Amino acid sequence: MDLAALLKRYRLKPNLPKHVAIIMDGNGRWPKKRRLPRIAGHRAGALSIREIVGLAGELGIEALTLYAFSTENWKRPAQEIRLLMQLLKQYLRSETRELLRNNVSLRSIGRREDLPSNIREELDRAIRATSHCRGLKLTLALSYSGRADLVGALKRIAGEVRKGRLDPATLTEGAVTRALSTAGLPEVDLLI
Ligand code: FPP
Repeated sequence: MDLAALLKRYRLKPNLPKHVAIIMDGNGRWPKKRRLPRIAGHRAGALSIREIVGLAGELGIEALTLYAFSTENWKRPAQEIRLLMQLLKQYLRSETRELLRNNVSLRSIGRREDLPSNIREELDRAIRATSHCRGLKLTLALSYSGRADLVGALKRIAGEVRKGRLDPATLTEGAVTRALSTAGLPEVDLLI
C-alpha cells in the first residue's frame, strides 16, 4: 500500500508542508553513475514529475513549485536546451488530462517571453484548461530568476508610486509579496 493510501486508511493527518518547492537537479549526475547518456537523466527527471505531482495531490499539499529551468540554464549547449524544451512540450501535452483528473491547476512563473512560441502556446493551453481546478496548485518555474522576479516587483511598485497611488513610506512586506509573481501562493515551507 502506498503512503497516501495508508494515511487515508488510518485517518492520519500528518503535519504536512503547505508549499513544497523542488529544484530539479542531478539530471547530469544520475546518468553518469549509470553510464547512461546525459539526456537519459533529463528524461528520467521529466518522468518523475508525474509521480511527484500525483503524490503531492493525494497527500493534500496545497502548492508544489518545480524549478525546472532557470535564466542561467540558457547558457547550456543549444542541443541540450532543445531537448529540455521538447521534454517540457511533451509533458504539457501528455499530462494535461492527468492534471485535470487530479484536480491540479497549473501556472508558471519566470520570463515567459524567453520561451519558444510553441512552448508558450502549450503552456497557455494547459494553464487555461486547468484554471478551474481547485486541488494542488502546480507552478512551473521556467526561465525563472528570483532576482528578476524582485526587479519586476520593484518596477510595479515604482509605477504605483509614480502614479501617486502609493506613498513609499507606507510600503509593507505584504505589498512586496503581492507584487511578486508568486503572489497568492503560500510561503514555501519545504525546499528540496
Ligand atoms: C538540472 O540538472 C536539470 C535541469 C536544468 C532541467 C530540468 C528540466 C527538465 C527535465 C525539463 C522538463 C521539465 C518539466 C517540468 C517536465 P543538471 O543538468 O544541472 O544536473 P547535474 O547537477 O547533475 O549536472
